[in-house]
Amino acid sequence: MEQVTMIGVVGAGQMGSGIARVVAAAGIPVILHDSDAKALERANKLIATATNSVRCTQNFEELQSADVIIEAIVESEEVKKRLFSQLDKIAKPSAILASNTSSISITRLASATNRPSQVIGMHFMNPPPVMKVIEIIRGVQTSDEVFMKIKTLSERFGKTVMCSQDVPGFIVNRILMPMINEAFYALYTGVATKEDIDKMKLATNHPMGPLTLADFIGLDVCLSILRVLHQGLGDDKYAPCPLLVQYVDAGRLGRKRGIGLRSRSSFEVEAAS
Ligand code: NAI
Repeated sequence: MEQVTMIGVVGAGQMGSGIARVVAAAGIPVILHDSDAKALERANKLIATATNSVRCTQNFEELQSADVIIEAIVESEEVKKRLFSQLDKIAKPSAILASNTSSISITRLASATNRPSQVIGMHFMNPPPVMKVIEIIRGVQTSDEVFMKIKTLSERFGKTVMCSQDVPGFIVNRILMPMINEAFYALYTGVATKEDIDKMKLATNHPMGPLTLADFIGLDVCLSILRVLHQGLGDDKYAPCPLLVQYVDAGRLGRKRGIGLRSRSSFEVEAAS
């Protein structure tokens, strides 16, 4: 299989822009594509201060020169499948198509392509430049060669690899999301205030409390993952808390929107400091 000399990243949001920085820091040129010009502009501002080896583009066709394409768009199986089918048509025949999905079946994403042996899950943590692990998920048809290549690439990024079976939520979100959901239930049922629930960070020696973490991840992303867990594992213990659903319905998606569980003013204070 060819050397990795160019990487494509699709989706220039929280994760895609961070992944592009990780790749560039490892000395590999990046083509960062997003369908939304504003998202690209935001990502470009963030990235340009650190590196000039990321090319931001709205032109999908430019991804055809990449050896590996990492997808980091919205957490929706339908939307991701459509993208995988389009990528399959324009990518080099040898290119690997990786997904940064938090929870969606790699085997089903691969089924939207004619190269299922070259499709794999490559789940970075948020924020990608800081977090030290990448979760790799093999679909039913992912080849050994592709798995080894993505494992080696992840190590070249300076990350530890954790390998999961292709099950809903894999390892990380199978364990993390029930905790975040339970924190919402604790708030919803009046067990404690937001502030006291978030003192869990001191109780568990985590860097932030579960509600702050939900704002950081994005409440829409948390809700999508919980729905995949609930539907895929068929157990009501994963049913998303109605309060989480209401926040998403209200457009309070967390840090990326400047308002979530935390108020707009508290995000503004943080941004100014
Ligand atoms: P985000 O909402 O910040 O960014 C998504 C970006 O994808 C947006 O800029 C949007 O314009 C773009 N996009 C949507 N459809 C597109 C398409 N068809 N073609 C090109 N661009 C498209 O979302 P975020 O948080 O970056 O999440 C992206 C993926 O990463 C999701 O699958 C999520 O589950 C996963 N993830 C998220 C983590 C988090 O903490 N937020 C952590 C690890 C994985």
